[in-house]
Amino acid sequence: MASQPQGTGNADDREQERHVSHQDIRRRTIAHMRAKTTDLAAASMPIDPAAYTDPERFEAERRELFRKRPILAGLTGDIPNAGDKLLFDVLGPPILLIRNKAGEVNAFLNMCPHRAARLVTECNSLSRMTCRFHGWTFDLDGRLIGLPGKEGFADMERDKIGLLPVPVVEWHGMIFVRADPGGDPIDIEDWLGDMAAELRHLELEKAVPAKSGTLHTDANWKYAFDTYGESYHFATLHPTTIGSLAFSNTMTHRPHGLHTRLGFPRADFAAYANLPEEDWPHSDYGGLYMIFPNTVINVNGMQGGGPFYGVSRVFPGDEPGKSVTLMTHYRPGHADPEMPMSAWEATHDFIHAVVRDEDYSVSAEGQRNLGWAPPGFRMRFGANEAVLQKQHRQIAEILDAANEG
Ligand code: FES
Ligand SMILES: [Fe+2]
Repeated sequence: MASQPQGTGNADDREQERHVSHQDIRRRTIAHMRAKTTDLAAASMPIDPAAYTDPERFEAERRELFRKRPILAGLTGDIPNAGDKLLFDVLGPPILLIRNKAGEVNAFLNMCPHRAARLVTECNSLSRMTCRFHGWTFDLDGRLIGLPGKEGFADMERDKIGLLPVPVVEWHGMIFVRADPGGDPIDIEDWLGDMAAELRHLELEKAVPAKSGTLHTDANWKYAFDTYGESYHFATLHPTTIGSLAFSNTMTHRPHGLHTRLGFPRADFAAYANLPEEDWPHSDYGGLYMIFPNTVINVNGMQGGGPFYGVSRVFPGDEPGKSVTLMTHYRPGHADPEMPMSAWEATHDFIHAVVRDEDYSVSAEGQRNLGWAPPGFRMRFGANEAVLQKQHRQIAEILDAANEG
């Protein structure tokens, strides 16, 4: 199931679109900052702890959200060259992504068609894949090119034996898969809707990975993901880290179908918030690009200057109270080429540690507490936690529709 990277369009146009979009989000966050306001939903919203603890609900989410819908597997820069491979097991079925010699991304079930052994066990750039069980060998397009003891399979049509394709699409630097082996192709522009234009201007096809990390957390995937969607907790949970870099409880957002753009004012905006917009200095701040159901792209500037892209994805773990977060920080294509990669590595280390030690430690404690909540207890998302309300309503609607279907 090959997928060709899309044309990148005109880089100057993209830069201009990015500038307009980022300026708009900065303008809206600064307006809130000056007025000491924030975007508010119509009302607060009660939430049943079962959303985080119920095994049936958990299974339904894994099926409806993570196996029936496109999920970001990585960026183009994660597998830039022919033969590069990515092992992506976190959706359930083991998925193998490979860039072929034509530069397209293929995705297959990482399963040998002989007797189902795990075909690729380590990432490399070799142009052929040999199963360690009996040595069947495949090319980068999943075709069987080596069959030891072929007389044993004389009754089989060799060109019909290949790796099982998984739907995949590479779109403007983003690689999406749907964990549905043999399923229909992904219509990514339909899935992204008007979020597509927001993502195109990031020019993710030029982003280069600096550092990645994985966090295994004893909290439901939504409890962990919820921590990205509100700034209400910045001053209290992150007093010496994020709380000193951004304003607390100030948020602007815009829905793009199921997806969302949101922004929180950076502390350094205060230095010029009262000046006319023409006098504002350059900023790399673009806020958060939230792709339903589990991905957030943090578009921001590093503390020492220079832009970064942080891609965080939260996945269900093996049970309702466990999750896995994949976090990678990238150097955007428009960054100063003179800046050393160590700047992006340090940015990753900082954010990874804050999320692990501050956000997710609360998530794990809260998750444990939910196990002891008495019947009828409801958590509550404030009107100021509007993006969490949106996210949880959308998930509930999708599960309800699946139930009725
Ligand atoms: S299971 Fe792969 S060659 Fe036998
Ligand atoms: Fe946080």
